[in-house]
Amino acid sequence: MHKVINPNILYFGTPVVLISTQNEDGSSNLAPMSSAWWLNQSCMLGMSSKSQTVQNMLRERECVLNLPSEDLVSAVDRLALFTGKDPVPESKAQRGYRYEPDKFGIAKLTKQPADIVKAMRVRECPVQLEASVEQVHSFELPSSLMAIEVKILKVHVAEELLMDGEQHYIDPEKWKPLIMNFCEYFGLGGKLHPSRLATIFAPPVTDKRH
Ligand SMILES: Cc1cc2nc3c(=O)[nH]c(=O)nc-3n(C[C@H](O)[C@H](O)[C@H](O)COP(=O)(O)O)c2cc1C
Repeated sequence: MHKVINPNILYFGTPVVLISTQNEDGSSNLAPMSSAWWLNQSCMLGMSSKSQTVQNMLRERECVLNLPSEDLVSAVDRLALFTGKDPVPESKAQRGYRYEPDKFGIAKLTKQPADIVKAMRVRECPVQLEASVEQVHSFELPSSLMAIEVKILKVHVAEELLMDGEQHYIDPEKWKPLIMNFCEYFGLGGKLHPSRLATIFAPPVTDKRH
């Protein structure tokens, strides 16, 4: 039997992303978010325009998408209920948000310069994607939400995530993304079934004896 319900959120489980951006004064901002999905070399991000992150992305037209693995869950949670926006927007203040200018510091994460964009990478994140803002779409009013399309310019990946003997293929058995599922933190379970789609993207079979 199905029941008709009215849940206040529909967060069915998506990867956590730490978006780093540059503030107007040249300092760094870092914010956790999880409304993200990827297609080819693009990513679509859902975020409130009241966030410092979106304001920085609209001005600078760039960011770094840092993907934390599940072991970084405490660092991610240390960033929750903080904003880099001063003064704190009224709706956020009511929900207990506080202003924090040093997000890297409170999260105990390390800044690492990027190659192309001015925003910093997060050294501890095994995946760091430098990106440019391509298109911005506002949700229907009165929502403050925006869908921001970014193009991935450069992909940095911790070497230990690569498939054995491959330079450009991430091994899904090694990548352990942090997942936000109805506002709670989860990891992935193991692989369930061989995937026919994965055969399209598999590395070409080469004779490695030579
Ligand atoms: C795990 C996690 C996931 C989140 N996902 C989103 C999201 O997808 N979209 C969003 O607008 N805010 C999301 N938030 C809330 C933002 O982090 C919050 O608005 C924060 O204040 C943004 O920081 P900023 O104002 O410095 O940019 C999430 C928070 C946490 C802890």
